[in-house]
Amino acid sequence: MSDMLFMNVHDLVKHFKVANSSDVVHAVDGVSFSIYRNETLAVVGESGSGKTTLGRLLIRLVEPTSGAIELDGQDISNLSDARMKPLRRRIQMIFQDPYSSLDPRMSVEQTLGEALAIHGLAKHSRKERIAELLTLVGLDPSLAGRFPHQFSGGQRQRIGIARALSVEPEMIVGDEPVSALDVSVRAQVLNLLSDIRARLGLTFVMITHDLGVVRHSADRIIVLYLGKIVEIGAADDVFTQPRHPYTRALIKATPDPFRLRREATEILGGEVPSPIAPPSGCRFHTRCPMARDICSKEEPALETRKPRHLSACHFAHEVVPPISQEPPPRLYQQRLDIIRAAYAGKDT
Ligand SMILES: Nc1ncnc2c1ncn2[C@@H]1O[C@H](COP(=O)(O)OP(=O)(O)O)[C@@H](O)[C@H]1O
Ligand SMILES: [Mg+2]
Repeated sequence: MSDMLFMNVHDLVKHFKVANSSDVVHAVDGVSFSIYRNETLAVVGESGSGKTTLGRLLIRLVEPTSGAIELDGQDISNLSDARMKPLRRRIQMIFQDPYSSLDPRMSVEQTLGEALAIHGLAKHSRKERIAELLTLVGLDPSLAGRFPHQFSGGQRQRIGIARALSVEPEMIVGDEPVSALDVSVRAQVLNLLSDIRARLGLTFVMITHDLGVVRHSADRIIVLYLGKIVEIGAADDVFTQPRHPYTRALIKATPDPFRLRREATEILGGEVPSPIAPPSGCRFHTRCPMARDICSKEEPALETRKPRHLSACHFAHEVVPPISQEPPPRLYQQRLDIIRAAYAGKDT
């Protein structure tokens, strides 16, 4: 992981007003973190925790209520559309749904050509550039004349990735880029993303509700709960020694594909409370197995637990490691090999 700062987010807030009411949705509620060049930073949390809003704030698809977003030291949180345009090229988004994110009336060639045209790229070699992009994402360039409905979900997501790459971005924000895909093609698309990231030296922000997706690909992990960061640290540290009971519960609830059975203990109980009236004190206290008096009264600060590992819990030091680290039992080895073989297979 490089230590070169790319983006810096400071006390970022996004509140949505609820129509015809004085209610406010606290979607993102004061988050601060950095993004380093060439890293894969995962943003995880249950549905409704503010992940999509945060991702959209980073590329200013959503206007912040307050706070600062710095890109290479320049605050971009208040830039006009005109001044944002060249910066937009530097950060691209890959969306969850490869069906609705592509225009059904446009061929692949038109979709990619449009992205290139908007930024005045590859003016005299558009066909070649499109062929190159398709090859990069593992699609046959001879398919460029086809329309989205002629492709599978996995292939469509590859087209979405090609579109994002077409403008030569420095950073990609993937908002649940494989959640809508068949389980059988998820690993292929994830592998493609990490290959491309390494090959092109991209910075990657990976938004997901599924910790399993980022277990082996993220350098660092941010855990969001009701619009707040509850934990942030190196992926290995967060997985093996989480310092927040919410992170621990998320890990316990993630089926381990190499174990082939869910450890059915401690699946997170209850629903995420409403972000219109988040719980007092620690927002997680209503679902927390460790909660005590202080937790409903005082909001815990996001504090350093070890270098570069922060968590916001009054009892961080009491969080017990969630998983035993022993290798998969031999009994399962055979099925493991079958799964690996299937993952290595071709996209359909
Ligand atoms: N445009 C919007 N208007 C009002 N509320 C919104 C809007 N976008 C998101 N929200 C609300 O903000 C909260 C966080 O949503 P979101 O960022 O989509 O979370 P996630 O991606 O983690 O599921 C949710 O309660 C959601 O309903
Ligand atoms: Mg989302």
